[in-house]
Amino acid sequence: MDKIVFRDKTIVLGVSGGIAAYKAADLADKLVQEEATVKVVMSQNATKFVDPLEFQSVTNQTVLTDLFDGDFKDQIYHVSLSEEADITVIAPATANIIAKAACGIADDALSTVILAARSKIVMVPAMNNHMWLNEATQHNLAVLKSRGIEIIEPEVGRLACGEENAVGRFPKTETVMDYLGLALARTQDLAGKTLLVTAGGTREPIDPVRYIGNRSSGKMGYAVAKAAVMRGAQVILVSGVTNLSPPYGAKFVSVETAEQMLRAVIENLEQADTVVMAAAVADFKPSRKSLEKIKKERMPKSVELELNPDILQAIADRKTNQIIIGFAAESQDMVVNATRKLKKKNLDLIVANDIAKPGVGFASDLNTAVLIDKKGQIGDIKTYKKTSLAEEILDWLGTYSSFK
Ligand code: PMT
Repeated sequence: MDKIVFRDKTIVLGVSGGIAAYKAADLADKLVQEEATVKVVMSQNATKFVDPLEFQSVTNQTVLTDLFDGDFKDQIYHVSLSEEADITVIAPATANIIAKAACGIADDALSTVILAARSKIVMVPAMNNHMWLNEATQHNLAVLKSRGIEIIEPEVGRLACGEENAVGRFPKTETVMDYLGLALARTQDLAGKTLLVTAGGTREPIDPVRYIGNRSSGKMGYAVAKAAVMRGAQVILVSGVTNLSPPYGAKFVSVETAEQMLRAVIENLEQADTVVMAAAVADFKPSRKSLEKIKKERMPKSVELELNPDILQAIADRKTNQIIIGFAAESQDMVVNATRKLKKKNLDLIVANDIAKPGVGFASDLNTAVLIDKKGQIGDIKTYKKTSLAEEILDWLGTYSSFK
């Protein structure tokens, strides 16, 4: 089952006049790709950074820039917008629009839409660091928060004004999407539960430069973590090195080796109701790690290996009460081999996935898989989007009797 959180939702996107206005165009584009209807309102200053036509072509909707615009003959369009919106997002939110909203000023299209809004409002401030840290801005933000307006904190980094390592950057589009998805999520069936999810591959160092690794991208584990956050769970994501952004709202623990992953899992185990081991943990590692980079001239003829700890087995041996979900990466006899792993590691569920078939599995957005629990195989082997497979796993979890 694919639960697309943005499908059929109406999102009013208010764009104020900052350099990050162009990033709002990317946000609008991604929301439309997720099947949301996006209605854009721009301040006059915002139109100096991005042409309203750009938003119009991305959203396929007329853009409101002026309350008395001939395109909006119905002069109370801002009121109908407030009725239609499932959520109102102000991105970027400049110090000026934050101040206006805090004071209830409605002197243009954007500030009027904010004052008339009936939906949840989320602001995504982006500005120069001194403007952000200014007492007036911080006071205005506190006023907005006290009225229930939600603020996605700006990131630290390089600002348009040239300041390095300063607070005020517009967050990544995925961070804003995650936040909005969470705000709009329909089902909160995992509220009150804590999931410990592992993702990505481990790296086992040979020397400070080289390592033994695998092709895991982390996509599968991150999909589970993100879907669980959306469904109301607390999520602890223990991840090997990936190129992915952790889902907004998850506790993130970054690791490199299998030993580090084991330690992070054990440290966080007690808090968890459920463990989902989607990580591709290296089964073996070099017996010795050189502290210096091994010179070409001193290339070893072979690298001696030794076994890594089996994290799932370590959890099983502890005989805890958690529900334990494993994955099985199989290239043949998928169901038979995965069932053997389910029994050996005393798992509640195993997700058997085919890693031999081209175009699915490692690093792909797709996974050919089947769920197997203690009673046996559930349904047929199917090719899923990893996001859908994640939902399928959580649906199973929601109905699993000991999860109640
Ligand atoms: O990250 P992606 O690119 O999205 O790819 C997803 C995936 C293919 C990595 C994922 O779907 C997957 O199959 N993960 C498990 C990979 C794996 O290690 O499978 P396995 O059959 O070798 O191990 C069985 C289970 O034991 C797994 O849950 C694994 O996390 C766990 N394990 C394995 C070895 C070890 N030393 N400790 C473990 O806990």
